[in-house]
Amino acid sequence: MFDLEEFIASCQVAIKEHAPQLAVKELMERTMSLSADVESSLGTPTAGGITTLHRSSDLTVINVIWPPGMTIFPHDHHMWAVIGIYGGQEDNTFFRRTPQGLDRAGFKALDIQDSVGLGPEVIHAVHNPRNVLTGAVHVYGGDFFSESRSEWDPETLEEKPYDMEHAMRAFAEANDAWLARQGN
Ligand SMILES: [Fe+2]
Repeated sequence: MFDLEEFIASCQVAIKEHAPQLAVKELMERTMSLSADVESSLGTPTAGGITTLHRSSDLTVINVIWPPGMTIFPHDHHMWAVIGIYGGQEDNTFFRRTPQGLDRAGFKALDIQDSVGLGPEVIHAVHNPRNVLTGAVHVYGGDFFSESRSEWDPETLEEKPYDMEHAMRAFAEANDAWLARQGN
């Protein structure tokens, strides 16, 4: 059975290991193999958004619910991340910096029970291609909310300082669009 307090305590132990991201990745793989337990513990998602489960200077754990059809603009984190999916699907498009801006450099679709580790320099955009809410646990090796980092305009790929309120608006707009499609 998934226990949130136990998961966070295990993350806190893992980040003290010599390869913290790998240790968290292994923990995430074990955790997501019981994805139904994770969902029943965190609650079946009813709307998109981000819930903070743990926040400290060296560890952030968030529950991310992606509304159907949502795409978040390219951004980086400036810290390692481990992502695990307990419901739905999260499509990741990866980018690399070029003298002209950004180039698309890869793609990875994450299905239920999948997990992935992202290095501190990774730049990605995330999309929920499915018609259901996607539930993901994201673990970051730092304070995800206070780190200064970048986002890129999805059309022009122009780099700007990351704006958390912009991200929150993207979740709200995607929720509204999804509800409108349902006729609510
Ligand atoms: Fe991200």
